[in-house]
Amino acid sequence: MQDDPPLPSFAAIVVAAGQGLRAGQPLPKQFAIWRGKPVLRHSVDALLASGAEPLVIAIPTGAEELARAALKGLDGFMLVEGGDTRQQSVARALAAIDSAKRVLIHDAARPDLPRQVIERLLTALDGHAGAIPVLPVVDSLSIDTDGMMSGSAPREQLRRVQTPQAFRFSAIRDAHQAWQGEPTAGDDAQVLRAAGERVAHVPGDERLAKLTFAEDFMAVLPPVRTGMGFDVHRLVAGEELWLGGIRIEYEKGLAGHSDADVALHAIVDALLGAIGAGDIGSHFPPSDPQWKGASSDRFLIQAGRLVDAAGYFTGNIDLTIVCEAPKIGPHRDAMRARIAELLGVDIGAISVKATTTERLGFTGRGEGIAAQAVATVLRK
Ligand code: CTP
Ligand code: MG
Repeated sequence: MQDDPPLPSFAAIVVAAGQGLRAGQPLPKQFAIWRGKPVLRHSVDALLASGAEPLVIAIPTGAEELARAALKGLDGFMLVEGGDTRQQSVARALAAIDSAKRVLIHDAARPDLPRQVIERLLTALDGHAGAIPVLPVVDSLSIDTDGMMSGSAPREQLRRVQTPQAFRFSAIRDAHQAWQGEPTAGDDAQVLRAAGERVAHVPGDERLAKLTFAEDFMAVLPPVRTGMGFDVHRLVAGEELWLGGIRIEYEKGLAGHSDADVALHAIVDALLGAIGAGDIGSHFPPSDPQWKGASSDRFLIQAGRLVDAAGYFTGNIDLTIVCEAPKIGPHRDAMRARIAELLGVDIGAISVKATTTERLGFTGRGEGIAAQAVATVLRK
């Protein structure tokens, strides 16, 4: 892979000193986990990878331990205490930078920061004191007065503004010091404009969307998931043989704590695997007397319920039973029908296959039966 071309030198500020309340997370949103790591860490990683130096992070009073935990293992950043408003947090971070030519000011709440946006901003700074990433407005706009439309706004001229915002350092530092306005500015570009400077627009990126509400933290479920299951039970005299959800007349039966239906157990594990919900033993522990002699139907019905609760339904099941005897072929369709019934799916979604192991191994000697299954589940 080719290395990215070097960028001009720049300092960076990440503001992470808000309360992050609207997101309703157990931690302030900037420290909550999103796509596998703390929100703040995403943009800090991206800025460090682009060579930001120095990198100043504004955090809430008393949050140093949280911030250090979120950034564990990284260096090349400095923490400062933020203020009551975003603007104050930025001003304090700016004051912590001795000198720099350019500075990028970014919301921690926008974790997904593409390098291309940083490049565009720094390039635009060649000709202007400020540059900001913007996106078009696609909906028409209505001005609301007490729940009634009182006018409209020209969508063509309006832009949605994101961060990072890029500035010549001395220009934005001076503009923040000179700021008089109330209420506080929504962003730093407004502060620079108030000081009479020009701000260029560069294309933003939808990936930079700000995490604000609880739903922004919900992972999108993958549309299809797959699981596999495998099980073995011993064949012994004096037991009933239950296999694939039906009773089969045979000289031996499977031994185990429940009815030992090895085929249903493999399917249960495949379904639990598809939704990442552990295995049959964790849901129906053999140590629990309520499962002694239990019909495995109950396990499969419960697995189906768990699939449903996870937001999925069973797409298909492919089961292979491994034994020398009894012959499975004559029972195949009865098994398919029963499994389909227990899972509430069409019989066409259930495949039952069988094989011997050429008289090799424990299945070949008739000491036990093995089964394996693959399940796919589909997002509802
Ligand atoms: N911010 C800050 N200092 C403040 C207020 C906000 O550094 N006094 C930062 C936030 O941490 C966030 C960014 O400014 O990265 C944008 O603010 P917002 O999305 O409103 O975040 P919060 O104020 O933290 O969230 P909420 O309004 O839901 O409480
Ligand atoms: Mg806020």
